[in-house]
Amino acid sequence: MSSKVPVLCLDGPSGSGKGTVGQICAQRLGWQYLDSGAIYRALAFSLREAGIDVADINSAVQQAAQLQVACLPDPNGAAKISINGVDTGQELRTEEIGELASQLASEPRIRDAMLAVQRRARRPPGLVADGRDMGTTVFPDATLKIFLTATPKIRARRRYKQLKLKGFDVNLAHLFQVIQDRDARDAQRRASPLIPADDAVTLDTTDLEITEVVSRVLDLLQPRLVHERAE
Ligand code: DC
Repeated sequence: MSSKVPVLCLDGPSGSGKGTVGQICAQRLGWQYLDSGAIYRALAFSLREAGIDVADINSAVQQAAQLQVACLPDPNGAAKISINGVDTGQELRTEEIGELASQLASEPRIRDAMLAVQRRARRPPGLVADGRDMGTTVFPDATLKIFLTATPKIRARRRYKQLKLKGFDVNLAHLFQVIQDRDARDAQRRASPLIPADDAVTLDTTDLEITEVVSRVLDLLQPRLVHERAE
């Protein structure tokens, strides 16, 4: 019998559906949930609050070492994130914080410091982890690794809808450009680029409803869980 805490990794670019799919899966399974993008956003936010420039890597690494982030899944929207016990509301979800997070995420020393913050979320009975490098770097021994994709156009439309629903004033053409620029930076960076793990299953969600994606992911997970438990 394995004593390993099972992990379901959902990686992919912004707007691929990983957040919504991850939160529904976590709720169905009764597992912990990690929104790793929110962890980078939380660092960007706490640096801004402390008046520290994101380019000041030494200070950012120190700040990361003290960061305690909790994610509570909300299948109807973005996960609720608290930093060092304080709820952040919508403040983490702005494009400005997303940009700062992406800059921080391209720095290898920051990524190293964030490994411990993310791995602390692996607690029984299991963890659903969503991000860019969950399967390649953070949880290489995961039970199942899924890589979600969708065309940039559909991803920009999904982000637009999400942000509008949250009351943000956004422009679709601008969002499309931001998404393409951020994808390029996330995919080209040397430290943990946005690429599928060798053993990941890739799912294109462009023409799929969320419920279909959730069913496919859970169908793939069940036999692996049985196998892992028997090991
Ligand atoms: O998914 P998001 O938009 O909340 O992520 C914010 C930024 O953090 C994004 O530009 C990429 C980065 N990120 C990362 O590099 N690795 C992760 N595991 C999660 C997010």
